[in-house]
Amino acid sequence: MAHIAVIGGTGPQGKGLAYRFAKHGHQVTLGSRSADRASETAAEILQRVPDAQVSGAANQDAVAAADLVLLAVPYDGHDELVAALAPELAGKTVISCVNPLGFDKGGPFGKVVPGGSAAETAASLAPEATLVGAFHHVSAVSLWSEQEYLDHEDVLVCGDDADAKATVIELAVAVTGRPGVDAGKLRLAAQLEPFTAVLISINKKYKTQSGLVIGGLEH
Ligand SMILES: NC(=O)c1ccc[n+]([C@@H]2O[C@H](COP(=O)([O-])OP(=O)(O)OC[C@H]3O[C@@H](n4cnc5c(N)ncnc54)[C@H](OP(=O)(O)O)[C@@H]3O)[C@@H](O)[C@H]2O)c1
Repeated sequence: MAHIAVIGGTGPQGKGLAYRFAKHGHQVTLGSRSADRASETAAEILQRVPDAQVSGAANQDAVAAADLVLLAVPYDGHDELVAALAPELAGKTVISCVNPLGFDKGGPFGKVVPGGSAAETAASLAPEATLVGAFHHVSAVSLWSEQEYLDHEDVLVCGDDADAKATVIELAVAVTGRPGVDAGKLRLAAQLEPFTAVLISINKKYKTQSGLVIGGLEH
């Protein structure tokens, strides 16, 4: 079982993924700009999963304690945060579920990101970390639900390092009950991240929490 730091762990996405990881037996340290806020969110998870190994810490301390790091922060402010954490991220596998999205009168849309994608930008800002993109399409509402596993969804995983990608593919079992799907190289994060705008649009139209499932695979 891994020790995972969830940066942005006080937000709905980080909390939801942390809950799923902890429920599956992983050790989780929630990271926040405020250690107190992180501890409060850890207490919420512990109410649901009393035997979970979950605690809260300041972002830097959370990263230092963990083997795996999940970035679950908004795209606004993401670059500054990753640059500041770069020394602690060195040598670690870092998962990004960050979706650079915008919203206007036409609804949600994927933002043009100078570095291609949030995940690739993080890779260039923390060059000694190994970036993997995953969990972009699982919604916070579904993650925090009582459903045992989100078994109607696939987690698409992209990255350039085969070992890091394999670790995250296995980590996806905690969320969907089955391994994630190898979706290719890290540069494909530029396609995976904005696709979430399509899911949000579908959610609005059909009043649901849609998810992505890949056909043609043996599950
Ligand atoms: N919500 C979803 O359903 C969903 C689904 C898929 C992917 N995502 C992606 O997951 C990420 C997190 O989503 P979310 O809805 O949980 O976001 P959020 O609630 O807006 O933010 C998550 C946490 O990030 C920290 N944060 C906010 N601004 C920051 C900044 N400028 N610098 C450093 N930390 C900051 C805050 O924690 P502290 O104040 O405690 O530090 C906040 O609680 C986003 O990139 C989103 O695109 C979300």
